[in-house]
Amino acid sequence: MKTIGVLTSGGDSPGMNAAFRAVVRTAFTEGFEIVAFRHGFKGLIEGNFKKVGPTDVSNIIQRGGTILKSARCDEFRTEEGRAKAAEVLKDEGIENLIIIGGDGSFQGGTLLANEHDISVIGIPATIDNDLVGSDETIGYDTALNTAMDAIDKIRDTADAHDRLFLVEVMGRDAGFIALETGIAGGAELILLPESMTNIDEVRSSLNDVLKEQRRSSLVVVAEGDETGGALKLSEKLRDDFSKYEMRVCILGHVQRGGGPTARDRVLASRLGAAAVKAIKDGHSKVMVGIVNNRIKITPLKMTFGKRKDINFELLELSKTLR
Ligand code: F6P
Repeated sequence: MKTIGVLTSGGDSPGMNAAFRAVVRTAFTEGFEIVAFRHGFKGLIEGNFKKVGPTDVSNIIQRGGTILKSARCDEFRTEEGRAKAAEVLKDEGIENLIIIGGDGSFQGGTLLANEHDISVIGIPATIDNDLVGSDETIGYDTALNTAMDAIDKIRDTADAHDRLFLVEVMGRDAGFIALETGIAGGAELILLPESMTNIDEVRSSLNDVLKEQRRSSLVVVAEGDETGGALKLSEKLRDDFSKYEMRVCILGHVQRGGGPTARDRVLASRLGAAAVKAIKDGHSKVMVGIVNNRIKITPLKMTFGKRKDINFELLELSKTLR
């Protein structure tokens, strides 16, 4: 019986548990043995694992976080660390490793696969939605809805006081969350890492909006925007907009928590099953994704390290609608 190892790695995202469940149950149906590592690559290096079966993943599809735990592992960034991980896999006869994670995890996984001839399959799970090869990543939809709910609430209090709010959402290198929550929350201005943020343009757009005597104004800023995020932006704007009571709200890690939406659960279930099928079909060093509602297999090394296209039409739309 062939063995598959599975782990969750990097920043957790809602739906990782649903993906793990789908991997375990599909592997069981397909006749694989399955071994789960705790704490991501750290657990892989330390040999922290246990064999799991279908009943071990009962009652987790709806849970946020990851029952396998996750980590950002510095040791795995070193050749020595990856060699230790490879030794654990070889000692346990684990020929295939499924990594449920984001860009940093896939980068590490690619190195492990190349250096030690291990079959690695990636399942894209990150709230940032910044992996090439899948229209959406697991957790993105949930994070969007969490951020949108928060923005709606901020709008209530902003409106009550006629205030200008700068709301920062997650996205170190990518503005997907900012763009879609900005549209869904009716933001007056959306600032993304993908588009140049000229501070004079920000001032002039805000002036245009505020002179229309809006009762409240809301700017959604991605944390990776070149202004440096909402706090720094507020410092740059404070003098010009001193007559407005400007407030900053950084949504932070609340966006990573909570039970996954239906859409994330379905995505995670499809991708978990697809990862096992990919192994069965002899694939290695690939990521399974969904493009135009169909499973797509992409070489792992093509999925990270470059900017995934955002839809600039949406950014234009936000300008028309503000
Ligand atoms: O997982 C992606 C992400 O949430 C980014 O949006 C954010 O910049 C980063 O992780 C935060 O990481 P950490 O939880 O390690 O501070």
